[in-house]
Amino acid sequence: MSLTKRIGRNDPCPCGSGKKYKFCHQIIDEKMLLYRRQGAMVPSKKLLKTKAQVDKIKESAKVNIAVLDYVAENIKAGMSTEDINILVHTKTTELGGIPAPLNYEGFPKSVCTSINNEVCHGIPSKDIILKDGDIINVDCSTIVDGYFSDSSRMFMIGNVSEENKKLVEVTKESVYKGLEMIKPWGFLGDMGQVINDYVTENGYSVVREIGGHGVGLEFHEDPFVSYVTKKGTDMLLVPGLMFTIEPMVNAGTHDVFVDEDNGWTVYTKDGKMSAQWEIQVLVTEDGYEIISY
Ligand code: MF3
Ligand code: CO
Repeated sequence: MSLTKRIGRNDPCPCGSGKKYKFCHQIIDEKMLLYRRQGAMVPSKKLLKTKAQVDKIKESAKVNIAVLDYVAENIKAGMSTEDINILVHTKTTELGGIPAPLNYEGFPKSVCTSINNEVCHGIPSKDIILKDGDIINVDCSTIVDGYFSDSSRMFMIGNVSEENKKLVEVTKESVYKGLEMIKPWGFLGDMGQVINDYVTENGYSVVREIGGHGVGLEFHEDPFVSYVTKKGTDMLLVPGLMFTIEPMVNAGTHDVFVDEDNGWTVYTKDGKMSAQWEIQVLVTEDGYEIISY
């Protein structure tokens, strides 16, 4: 017996909207079933956020965005990455949130700060001092009332070389070009390919092993969001699916390695620069909505 038969057309929709099923999720459920029968990778229902859950996640994102805005106002040369950690921790808690990275799988700080040739998961330290010309990613994730938000931005310290500025800008543009591919009944790979193509056209490369992720009810949910997938492949985009788009773009080759001492920080293998921007996105019935940036 199919799910669409179990719920009566005139029953209240299980999403909690208060509307009758036939006027709410029945069409989406039937469409998912059709795609599943055709062999598409269809998200499980628990990955699809209800309106009530989206509202809670937006409360979390409001804090996450405010914290990144606060970092933007205060970041400057001479400051250590530990100072950024203090800014993030203080502001997040002041606004009623919990920094999600702190103690996450043993991560020791409240934010990731990845500078220059660091690709991601940089650990804030008193010994890392921002200097003129540096490029740095500040990756904030917040929990409010049990709901998760996650986004990151690049910051350019003082006078950054044209070469590094271009890397930062192309990376940001790639995210927004990928975003334009997000629409219901498309595929995650539509976005992945657009990002990869744009990055490659500009002479850069995208990291393969680490990518975006579902987010909202947990810090990291399915799907894994890759930028080496092809158009028309990977997970079906269904309204309610929420995930991050966060390509790590290397000036040189895509190869990376993890710091053996701390087990976290990822570096480019060739020592060249890396940039990353991260947004949190919801698939809606007519396209997408940016939840955190
Ligand atoms: N914010 C990172 C992401 O985008 C996750 C960092 S995990 C941590 O997925 F433990 F390092 F914080
Ligand atoms: Co993320």
